[in-house]
Amino acid sequence: MSATPRIAVCPGSFDPMTMGHVDIIERAARLFDRVVVAVLVNAEKAPLFSFDERVAIIREVFAGQPNVEVETFQGLLVDYARQKQASVIIRGLRAVSDFEYEFQMALMNRHLAPPIETIFMMPAEQYTYISSRLIREVFSLGGQIDGLVPPVVEARLMARRKARPLPNARTT
Ligand SMILES: Nc1ncnc2c1ncn2[C@@H]1O[C@H](COP(=O)(O)OP(=O)(O)OP(=O)(O)O)[C@@H](O)[C@H]1O
Ligand SMILES: [Mg+2]
Repeated sequence: MSATPRIAVCPGSFDPMTMGHVDIIERAARLFDRVVVAVLVNAEKAPLFSFDERVAIIREVFAGQPNVEVETFQGLLVDYARQKQASVIIRGLRAVSDFEYEFQMALMNRHLAPPIETIFMMPAEQYTYISSRLIREVFSLGGQIDGLVPPVVEARLMARRKARPLPNARTT
C-alpha cells in the first residue's frame, strides 16, 4: 500500500531566516514527508535580502535535509498549498502577540480551503523572542546577532557590514 505523502507548507518572508524559523522547519520536517518552505514575494520596499538570496540561504541551511525544499510564491497561500498538494500550513507561534493575527489568518484560510489545516508549532524557548524585524533592526544599528540567525545569514550580513560600514562606525 502506498500512502499519500504528507506535505506541509511553511510560508513566510524569511528576511532574514532566523533560528526561530530553522527550529520550526526542523520540527515540521520530523512530522511530514515533505516540507515546502515558501518565501512570500511581496512588494517590501527595502528588503534586507532579495528573494533569490533568501531562497539560496534557506537551501544552504537545509542542504542536508532532503525532505525540505524551498520556493517562492505569490498570491493566495491556499492556492499555492493546493498546487503543491499540501494538506497542512505550518505557522510558528512565539507569544500571545502572534495569536490574534494568526487566528484570523488560519480561519480565513479554512474558509477559503476547508480541507487544508493550519498547525501551530512553538519554537524552543530561547528563540521565542526572535523576529526578522528585530534582527534587521539590531543589525542595522551595529548589534551582535550571532546565535540568533543561521551562520550563513550571519556571514552574509558581516560581509555586507565590511563592505558598507555603519555611517557612525569608528575607524580608529
Ligand atoms: N522565533 C520564532 N519562533 C517561532 N516561529 C517563528 C519565529 N519567527 C518567525 N516565526 C514564524 O515563522 C513564520 C514566518 O514568519 P516571518 O517570515 O514573517 O517571520 P517574522 O520573524 O515574523 O518576520 P517579520 O519580523 O519580518 O514579520 C510565521 O509563522 C512566524 O510566526
Ligand atoms: Mg511576522
